Amino acid sequence: MRIDVITLFPGMFTGPLTESILQRAQAEHLLEVHTHDLRTFGHGSYRQVDDRPYGGGAGMLFMVEPVVRAIEFVTEEGEKAGCSSSHRVLFTPRGKRLTQTRVERIAKQHQWIILLCAHYEGVDQRVVDGGWIDEEVSIGDYVLTGGELPAMVLIDAVARQIPGVLGKDESAEEESFSKATNRKREYPHYTRPEEFRGLKVPDVLLSGHHAEIEKWRAKKLL
Ligand code: ADE
Repeated sequence: MRIDVITLFPGMFTGPLTESILQRAQAEHLLEVHTHDLRTFGHGSYRQVDDRPYGGGAGMLFMVEPVVRAIEFVTEEGEKAGCSSSHRVLFTPRGKRLTQTRVERIAKQHQWIILLCAHYEGVDQRVVDGGWIDEEVSIGDYVLTGGELPAMVLIDAVARQIPGVLGKDESAEEESFSKATNRKREYPHYTRPEEFRGLKVPDVLLSGHHAEIEKWRAKKLL
C-alpha cells in the first residue's frame, strides 16, 4: 500500500513511522509512506498557503490553489510510480467518524491513499466541492490543532489491516471492534503471575476448558 501525506509539518510523522510495526511494515515493503510539504506549493516568496475567511471570523484557511496543486503533483508522482486510482482523504472535525469498519473498508478497497492534513480553521470548501477529495474523516468529536495526528491514527489503523504487517501473535482478527467480537469491545486479558498482591486470574482461564473459556470471554465483551 502507498500512502502520500500532504502536510505543513512533515517532521511530525518521523516518530510514528520510524518505530515498531509501522517501521517494520515499511522495511518489508508492505507499506510505503511519502510526506509532502504543502509549503512547497505556496504563493510568492513567503510560500503563503493560508488566508482569512470571506465573511469574517477567526482563524485562517488553506487556500484552494496550493492544496489543489499539491494534490495534482502527488497524484502525478504516484501514477509515475505505477499506482492508479487514489483515495483522497481530508481530515476535519466535520468528517465522518473513523470507526474500525471504516478502517477495514479503506484498507480493503484502496492500494493508494492520499491524506490531506488541514490546519488552522480548515480548507477552502472548493477543494471538496471541486472533486479533489473522496472522503472527509474525523477521528472524534473534539478539535485538534490539525490533521497530522488524525492522519497518523489512520495510517496506523489501516497499516495493521494489510496482510503480513502483523505477526501471527498480533492478529487483527479477534480484537476490539472486529467482526469476530461482533464489533464489541474485547474481553479482558491476564498473564503471569496467577496472583499479584491478592489479585487473582479468574479460575476459568486456568481451567484448560476451552469451551468454558470461550463462554466466559463472550460474556465479557462490552
Ligand atoms: N482536525 C482537527 N480536529 C480533528 C478531528 N477531530 N478529526 C479529524 N481532523 C481534525
